[in-house]
Amino acid sequence: MTHGPVLKVENLQTRFKSVQRGKFVHAVDDVSIELYPGEIVGLVGESGCGKSTLGRTIVGLEKATAGRVLLDGVDLSTLSGPALRDSRRALQYVFQDPYSSLNDRQTVGEAIDEALQIDGLKSRADRDRRTKELLDQVGLADAVKDRHTRELSGGQRQRVAIARSLAVNPRVLICDEPVSALDLSIRAQVMNLFLRLQKDLGVACLFIAHDLELVRQAATRVYVMYLGKIVEHGPSQELYDHPSHPYSQMLLASVPEADPIAERQRKVPLMVGEVPSPTNPPSGCRFRTRCPMAVEDCKQQVPPALKLSPGHDAACVFAKDLHRGKRSALLEAEAAATRIDALAS
Ligand SMILES: Nc1ncnc2c1ncn2[C@@H]1O[C@H](COP(=O)(O)OP(=O)(O)OP(=O)(O)O)[C@@H](O)[C@H]1O
Ligand SMILES: [Mg+2]
Repeated sequence: MTHGPVLKVENLQTRFKSVQRGKFVHAVDDVSIELYPGEIVGLVGESGCGKSTLGRTIVGLEKATAGRVLLDGVDLSTLSGPALRDSRRALQYVFQDPYSSLNDRQTVGEAIDEALQIDGLKSRADRDRRTKELLDQVGLADAVKDRHTRELSGGQRQRVAIARSLAVNPRVLICDEPVSALDLSIRAQVMNLFLRLQKDLGVACLFIAHDLELVRQAATRVYVMYLGKIVEHGPSQELYDHPSHPYSQMLLASVPEADPIAERQRKVPLMVGEVPSPTNPPSGCRFRTRCPMAVEDCKQQVPPALKLSPGHDAACVFAKDLHRGKRSALLEAEAAATRIDALAS
């Protein structure tokens, strides 16, 4: 066991061929992240900013066009055959939709048994014992194993999908919005399950979400992603108390109010503008076309990540001011929304 990160992603880039001839979709661009054993880390950003592509590239479902993925310090691109298979198994992906990730025709027992066989567990008795253990770990009764996966509720199916991922003793789970398809009442239960798994099994978890509140509860650290790039990263509480990139401030300001009346009276905009196309990302800072603080410089160069406090950095030329408590981006965004309202009326 090392004390280093279990997963290290270095300067990862994933580009897709665009439908526009000769162009590329810059889905993930120069992303570096780390996950330590037993840690839950959040990855947040709007739709289309590249979260799933990053997760899928890490587990090998997409091919990186540059950069490296290291598991326990070993670069996966240097492995082949059984060694690569073992490493891939240590990285598991939990999908958003618990309906598409399971085979309808299988019973719960068969679904889990299949994963255990892939993991090389030969004896039937061992597999049965392990199935029971896995069901227990995800909070399902043993009797569930004889039911077809299609008969289960969304929350139960997601638990079965998680049990299948756990069957191969992964070191890292990439959880791609694993609760967004679930009823609000079930979400908290499945979230608690993730917290327990992390405590009991020490599995590290990269938790992808739109919802900052959700991540705030569960994650110790958070990465904020915008148009293929990490724009801010820090310990959860620090990032929530001192968001230091205008985009993070916008995301935080957009968390809907629980109270519908307060939500209707909201002054701060939900989100201003739309994410530009990743086929033609803006020059310099990619957020500049929506940023209420953008200046001429932001067009010219990609802002480097500035260190703000231990483990907290943000890639904005104004990051230090914003970190010092200036909420100007937020206030500016509010003013911009008022201007947009005025223009619309
Ligand atoms: N196979 C593909 N070929 C071409 N473009 C793709 C492919 N997969 C994803 N993209 C594009 O890459 C960008 C990032 O997509 P991705 O699904 O990673 O975003 P996301 O942050 O997960 O969004 P969401 O929150 O909606 O799930 C999008 O512009 C998407 O259209
Ligand atoms: Mg996604």
